[in-house]
Amino acid sequence: MPRRAVSLIILAALMSGCTDTPRGGSPPVVTERGGQLFKERCAPCHPNGGNVLTPGKTLHAGVLADHGITTPADIVKKMRNPGPGMVRFDETTIPDADARLIADYVLATFR
Ligand code: HEC
Repeated sequence: MPRRAVSLIILAALMSGCTDTPRGGSPPVVTERGGQLFKERCAPCHPNGGNVLTPGKTLHAGVLADHGITTPADIVKKMRNPGPGMVRFDETTIPDADARLIADYVLATFR
């Protein structure tokens, strides 16, 4: 087999490995913008992923999971339909793309 064909096969194998995302979409990533928005919009009530108003409802993964929040979409849903004490962030205040960056930041940062 020519060398080029061999490297193409290896390349194809590597690439298919990279696109093999886990169930439920790609893993959450921390972006500078996500972190900045979190600091501006969420940190006043959720410093370091805590909760100054409802101490039992922090943003730490285990606590979130206990409350049925396991994906970025679940966190965005919370921003759109918050519980008592939390301000509502609609699409005008935080557009979906930014909401997703914040959600990814939360899931990747507070474990
Ligand atoms: C004015 C204070 C306040 C702000 C600002 C705020 N939250 Fe909250 N948050 C709360 C309170 C109070 C709760 C508990 C009530 C509830 O379940 O919604 C809460 C709950 C949550 C929960 C559920 C936590 C759990 O363990 O069940 C998530 C997720 C969350 N907030 C995300 C966010 C995000 C993301 C932002 C920023 C876009 C934000 N919050 C901004 C007060 C706030």
